Amino acid sequence: MTLSILAIVGARPNFMKVAPLAWAATKLEDVEVKIVHTGQHYDRNMSELFFEQLRIPKPVHNLGVGSGSHAVQTAEIMTRFEPVLLKEKPDLVLVVGDVNSTIACAMVATKLGFPVAHVEAGLRSFDRDMPEEINRVLTDSISDELFVTEQSGADNLRREGVPEDRVHFVGNVMIDTLLSCRDLANASDVLDRLGLEKRAYGVVTLHRPSNVDDPRTLAGIWRALSRISEEMPLVFPVHPRTRRRLSDAGLQPSDSMRLLEPVGYVDFLKLQADAGMILTDSGGIQEEATILGVPCLTLRRNTERPVTIEVGCNKLVGDDPETITREALAIVRGENPVRKVPKYWDGRAAERTIDILVERYGKD
Ligand code: UD1
Ligand code: UDP
Repeated sequence: MTLSILAIVGARPNFMKVAPLAWAATKLEDVEVKIVHTGQHYDRNMSELFFEQLRIPKPVHNLGVGSGSHAVQTAEIMTRFEPVLLKEKPDLVLVVGDVNSTIACAMVATKLGFPVAHVEAGLRSFDRDMPEEINRVLTDSISDELFVTEQSGADNLRREGVPEDRVHFVGNVMIDTLLSCRDLANASDVLDRLGLEKRAYGVVTLHRPSNVDDPRTLAGIWRALSRISEEMPLVFPVHPRTRRRLSDAGLQPSDSMRLLEPVGYVDFLKLQADAGMILTDSGGIQEEATILGVPCLTLRRNTERPVTIEVGCNKLVGDDPETITREALAIVRGENPVRKVPKYWDGRAAERTIDILVERYGKD
């Protein structure tokens, strides 16, 4: 059986999802995964570093789209991807997650008649103010094969009328990557470099427009973080969007808050694994915290990943400074949840995905 897959990456959370799919494909003779990078993220520590650390094959094309409004960025990706797809003529196009690169390339592919597989399908926050929710709903509605990470994904797709035989509950490819990198992360000296002690610090990440683009909301969250850092020092690798917003708002870190540039995957995994708590609005980090068993407070009112709450490690705290502070201080006092592993988050999701694609799209 031969199968050629064109896999799309664009933004940071795409790299750790495509990596294990590429690893799984290389184990099979005659299955080829070529990577197209849209260039949505382009700083070295938002992109290239992940290719090196996760041994992702070098992209055959980088569309170099860069930043822009949603319309400009999505349109640029579409315009630049179309000739690439016509040149490469893969058996199928694989997209992951919920970023603008995901919907843009899925749309180009489906209109040109190429089958589309969506990995991490079916997740729903039911909040259409999130750009990612629009990307999820649209991508799922035009994809041929929908690979879901948790039961809620399958349930949502069923409710939306997607035929059963298109939906595959295979587990979480991001967790494949995490489990593969545990040893590397254990060997990281990032705690020593930052002078941190295991379980005696918290990790923060923030980048959702709803939290960082409104100066009042951001200032409220900042007040909460400053208060929490008095009880437990915080380390905060700052996303470029957030860096700009903090600077515009003139917000300075307290003495116990350490702001860093975004860090590479391996160091970040170590920082998460040894943290006393995680405060985040990231999608993927809620899942990683679940597997690592580290208490996670999600600074959002909803999550498209409900299993992370059901199994106990993740809690929604919204953007209210009082609530964030109260919940974080409860964790500092040791009121911590128990850890369970969601179904199929076992390190083999990428293998299952590739097997299904070979069975359905492989050629004799
Ligand atoms: C994007 C995704 C979001 C995902 C996040 C992961 C969409 C709609 N959003 O949000 O779902 O959770 O990535 O990190 O696709 N910038 C840089 N350097 C970079 C990349 C971005 O400086 O390498 C700055 C630019 O000022 C840019 C801003 O960050 O305007 C936002 O980047 P963009 O890719 O548009 O959205 P994200 O907020 O990163
Ligand atoms: N991550 C990282 N370095 C950082 C922050 C995050 O390697 O400084 C990783 C994190 O471990 C997870 C992924 O980036 O694998 C999550 O991406 P992000 O939060 O940017 O996007 P989201 O998941 O919200 O779409």
